[in-house]
Formats: sequence, structure tokens, C-alpha cells
Amino acid sequence: MSDNKLDLLGTTNSDIRLLQEKGYYLQKIVGEGSYAKVYKAVHMWNETQHTVVACKLIDTAQGPREYLCKFLPRELDVLIRVDHPHIVNVSSIFQRRAKYFIFLRYAEKGDLLDFITQNGALSENQSRLWMRQIMSGLYYIHTLNIAHRDLKCENILITANYNVKITDFGFTRTTKEKDRDIFSETYCGSLLYAAPEVLKGVPYLPKCADMWSIGIILYIMLNKALPFNESSARAIYEKQIRGKWRFRSSIVDSLSLQCREQVAQLMEPEPQARPTAGGMFNGPWIGMDTRLTKLTPLEENLLKQANEEMQKQNNDESEYDRIALIRQKYRGKGGLRVLKEADENFAKSQQLLENTPEN
Ligand SMILES: Nc1ncnc2c1ncn2[C@@H]1O[C@H](COP(=O)(O)OP(=O)(O)O)[C@@H](O)[C@H]1O
Ligand SMILES: [Mg+2]
Repeated sequence: MSDNKLDLLGTTNSDIRLLQEKGYYLQKIVGEGSYAKVYKAVHMWNETQHTVVACKLIDTAQGPREYLCKFLPRELDVLIRVDHPHIVNVSSIFQRRAKYFIFLRYAEKGDLLDFITQNGALSENQSRLWMRQIMSGLYYIHTLNIAHRDLKCENILITANYNVKITDFGFTRTTKEKDRDIFSETYCGSLLYAAPEVLKGVPYLPKCADMWSIGIILYIMLNKALPFNESSARAIYEKQIRGKWRFRSSIVDSLSLQCREQVAQLMEPEPQARPTAGGMFNGPWIGMDTRLTKLTPLEENLLKQANEEMQKQNNDESEYDRIALIRQKYRGKGGLRVLKEADENFAKSQQLLENTPEN
């Protein structure tokens, strides 16, 4: 493999050398966003063992100040904290000068948008299974009082075993401060997945807005189409608040009543009338398959830990303090800084993942 053939976001030979010293070799681009490129890469553990990983390479020299000071530290903060079978698994995060290298478990089957584009709409049963997995991950991050704010099919990854994981925490934010709900004012994410209150531009409750986006993802899974395809925010908003959308006629009769009601409840204009992630998990649609309603012992444990962490956090540091710490601690030039290195835990977490019934 020749490094020269890769568009490495201005990465220098010495960056590459340092990564290679750590055993990481970038191979090809698999995704691209505003400030990041995602590569398929190989991590050589030793001479005989290797793992395929993804590397999200972020060049902060290219981003605006708000992204640098607000969104990127939040993304790193969340990635360092979360650990869940339905959230993308981060193995290591390195920083060198203006660049961040985030190494993630590689999702062999790509993202949900590509999957639906290539394979067509999903059956109701497949949608239920994947939604249940997405709900499990979202329930966990919402319990940590983190809202995602950019849920869309491109940010749902599919593994080799056809399990799904939420990724891309670039727009996340804390939803509570000292037991008080925080309203969000920043417009985030994609127009097509944005809730009416977000489009309207009023301060909104970010967890409720996440649930709207989940409704759009579910609609796309079932229909392989968008519920609203107007190009202006105003036109979309008008349709949203009037509930002017419908299922494709070719599939509507094959869907259960519970399924149709689930989509309608998620795409509910009144934010607080939408189900919560936990509520949807226990709702009648997921409940149609009784195997899906119970949390696995691992999921239960992680939720419990998240709850405990929140109780503890109420008493001490805020998101603001934690982020200030990340920025201070890892500021600097020169060598490769390690923000997270979970290599020693890799075998353990891999084993855990393999042992989870859903995996
Ligand atoms: N771990 C991964 N495995 C495989 N593909 C990935 C992985 N992470 C991201 N991608 C691909 O790269 C795209 C962009 O990644 P993402 O983290 O969403 O970056 P951005 O913040 O630029 O949107 C995703 O939509 C997906 O197609
Ligand atoms: Mg993305």
C-alpha cells in the first residue's frame, strides 16, 4: 500500500511514521464529512495478529473556531466516556499538532443509508430488530444526559454480524445541568431529520428532537424513501406540523398497526408527546417480538452504571469542567498524544461483544 495515494488531509510523513510506530496503517477512504475523513485501517498488534479498524481523521486547522472549541471537545469527551454494544467502539484516540486520529471498530457492512440504498427497504421484523438495538444505545446515552442531535442513517453503522451501532458524536450536547433540563439553541444535523421545533428555531429539548430523527430513520428503513422531500425548511415544517406524510402504498398494507402507530408517535409535532428511548423500548411495537423486550445483562449493567455516574456527577464536575480539562491536558505541539488507548482492554471488550446475544 502506498501512503502517497491516500488523501490524508494534509497528514505529514512524520504523522504517518508515528502512527506506524503504534502499529496503525491507513488503507483507503470510506467516508467523508465536513472536517473529517474516515479511513479503513489495519492495526498490527504484533507480527502475526492484526485487526481491521476505522480511523476518523480530523484536521482542526480546517475547522471554524466554534467547531474547535465546542463540538470537537464534546465529541472526544463522549467517545472517551461511552462504552456500549450499540455505540461505536473506540479503541484509541491520538492527537498530533492540529490533527486528531480516532480509531474505531470497523463496521464491515458500512452505514445504514448505503445498506438501504443497495438492498432496498427493510422488512418490518428487520427494522424492529435494528430499531431495538438503536434504542438500546440511545437509551444509554440519554441516561448519561447526552443528546446526539445528528441521528440519521449515515450515522448508523452495520457490523459484519449485522448488528447496528450509533456513531458520530460531533453534535452532541449535555441535556442537564444540576438537575435542570437544558434547552438547545443550536440548529444541528440534517434538514431532513430535523424536528419541527428545531426548524422553527426555538430553543428545543434535544432528547425529544433525537426521537423525531429516530422516527425519520424508521420511516426510511420501512419505505426506502423520505417522508418529506421538500427542499426548503419552511415547506418541510408546514408538512411536519400538519402531519402531511404517508407510507408508500406498496408497503403500507404489509405493516402492522403497532408499527404504523410507532412511526406516527415518533413523528409527533408536540416534542414531549413523543416516546422516550426507554419508553419505545418497552412499547407495543418492539413488544411484538418478546425476545427483544428484555435488556441483556450487559445492557442492564451499563445502564445502571450510567445512572450511577449521573448521580455522582450531579454533585461534582460539569460538562464545562470536563471539556476544559480535555483541552488543557492535551494541548500541545510535537509528539503523538494519547487521549485514549484501550488496547489492553481490546481483547476483553471483544470477548464481551462476542458473548452478547445480539452480537
Ligand atoms: N467505524 C466505521 N466503520 C466503517 N465506516 C465508518 C466508520 N465510521 C464512519 N464510517 C463511514 O464514514 C462516514 C462519516 O463518518 P462520521 O463519523 O459520521 O463523520 P462525519 O462527522 O464527518 O459525518 C459514515 O457515514 C460512514 O459511512
Ligand atoms: Mg456523520
